[in-house]
Amino acid sequence: MLLDKTGGMFVTLEGGEGAGKSSQAAYLAEQLEADGFRVYKTREPGGTPAAEALRHLLLFGEASFCWQAEVMAHMAARMDHLEQKIKPALADGQIVICDRYHDSTWAYQGFGMGAARPEVLSFITALRQLVACEPDLTFLLDIPVDVAHTRLVKRGGKTDRYEGQASQFHQRVRDGFLQVAQQDPERVVVVDACASIEGVKKEIYRHMQVWLEGGGM
Ligand code: TMP
Repeated sequence: MLLDKTGGMFVTLEGGEGAGKSSQAAYLAEQLEADGFRVYKTREPGGTPAAEALRHLLLFGEASFCWQAEVMAHMAARMDHLEQKIKPALADGQIVICDRYHDSTWAYQGFGMGAARPEVLSFITALRQLVACEPDLTFLLDIPVDVAHTRLVKRGGKTDRYEGQASQFHQRVRDGFLQVAQQDPERVVVVDACASIEGVKKEIYRHMQVWLEGGGM
C-alpha cells in the first residue's frame, strides 16, 4: 500500500458554503477507519487552540481586517495547525483529512473578498509557497450558489463573516475553486455536491480507493 512507503497522505475537502463538506469529511474518515487506516480528521481555520482562537476572530470578530491581515491571519492559523498537528500526523503515517485548506484562502480571500485582483492573488501565492505543504488529493464539492443558499436557509443558525456575504461574493468563491480545479487536475477532483449524500459519499470513496491502490490519479 502506498501509505507504507510515503508515511501518510494528506487529503483536503473544499467548496463553498452548504456543499456538505463537513459531513463528507466525517463519512470519509469513518470509511477509512473501518478499512483499517489510521485517520486524523481536522478543519481550518482551526485544529489547534491558537488556530481555533483565530477562527473565532476571523469568522465572528466585530473588527474588520485589512485584506493583507486577513490573509495572514488565515495563514497564521494554518501554520500553527500544520506544525503542531498535520505534519506530526503525516510523519506518523496517518491519513490526514482536512475540512478546508489553502484552496479556501484562494477562493475566499483571493476571489471572494479580493475579487481576483492580481496583487491579492500574488500575495496569497507567496505565502502559500512559504507555508510549503501541499495536499496529495483534494475533493472540491461543487454546488451552484442558489442551491447552496436554499440549503443554508433550511439549516438556519448563526451566520459568520463569509456566509453572510452577497450572492456575487459566493459566485466569485465558486469561480475561484473551479479555477483551482482547472489548473491542478492532478490533485483536485470535482464532485457534484448536488447529488444525494450517499452518491457524493460513494464518489469520494471511489476516487480515494483509486488513489490508494494506484498511488495517484
Ligand atoms: P466552515 O468551517 O463552516 O466552512 O467555515 C469556515 C469559513 O472560513 C468559511 O466561510 C470559509 C472561510 N475560510 C476562509 O475565508 N479562508 C480560509 O483560508 C479558510 C480555511 C476558511
